[in-house]
Amino acid sequence: MDGRPIGMFDSGFGGISVLAEAARALPDEDFLFLGDNLHAPYGDRTPAEVLAFTRAGVCQLIDRGAKAIVIACNTATSAAAATLRAELPLPIVGMEPALKPASQLPGSGTVLVMATTMTLRQEKFLRLMERYGSDAIPVPSPGLVELVEAGETDGPRMQAFLTQLLHPYLQQPVKAVVLGCTHYLFVRRAIAALLPPPTALVDGNAGTVRQLKTLLVQRGLLAPVRTGDREQVTFLSTSPDPAVPQRMRAWLASV
Ligand code: DGL
Repeated sequence: MDGRPIGMFDSGFGGISVLAEAARALPDEDFLFLGDNLHAPYGDRTPAEVLAFTRAGVCQLIDRGAKAIVIACNTATSAAAATLRAELPLPIVGMEPALKPASQLPGSGTVLVMATTMTLRQEKFLRLMERYGSDAIPVPSPGLVELVEAGETDGPRMQAFLTQLLHPYLQQPVKAVVLGCTHYLFVRRAIAALLPPPTALVDGNAGTVRQLKTLLVQRGLLAPVRTGDREQVTFLSTSPDPAVPQRMRAWLASV
């Protein structure tokens, strides 16, 4: 048993969608969530920059007592997870676009994989495409994370952005759309509204949380039964804006 918190890292608000799922599945655990809002978005930066930012964030979480880390960001995982696992002794769970489960869904049609430009260019995703991507089309979505970070998760600007982005791919049958960036979960409804039913929307959050739970069990790191009424999540941000952690708490309540 280990009562220390789980550290969760993202470039900004997106990872709160993973946090929500983890906090529900592991109610006895405490979480430290760090968003690198100062440097978001990561998707159009270089892999070396994202590795440096992610390393700094993960080290901050470890300094604050994290017993395990979740990199709740597909982009940061593809640029940094393998290196950080080799450098650090604690369990590090990462994310990848959920192409495997999407490709295994019944039915015909393409699988659209929405993700950041960097995620789609990295070796990790190219290997995933080789194995499960025979019917898949990568859909780089630059600009979408910026809109989500600005809180524009619905409304006419978001609708216009998504229509322009997805329209060219919707001329043919689509079996599923993979939400390959944790920020995109916050625009799930707006994306679904553009897709003809029964197109599936698939994300990697449940798989990531399953993997986290398995590692905690295997390493004897599960927290003892929660007592008292302390907050389950502490929010941290690299943004100089002191209101950001409070906004994060509101986003968690909205998921
Ligand atoms: N949440 C990150 C992901 O899952 C967003 C990347 C970004 O900051 O561009 O890829």
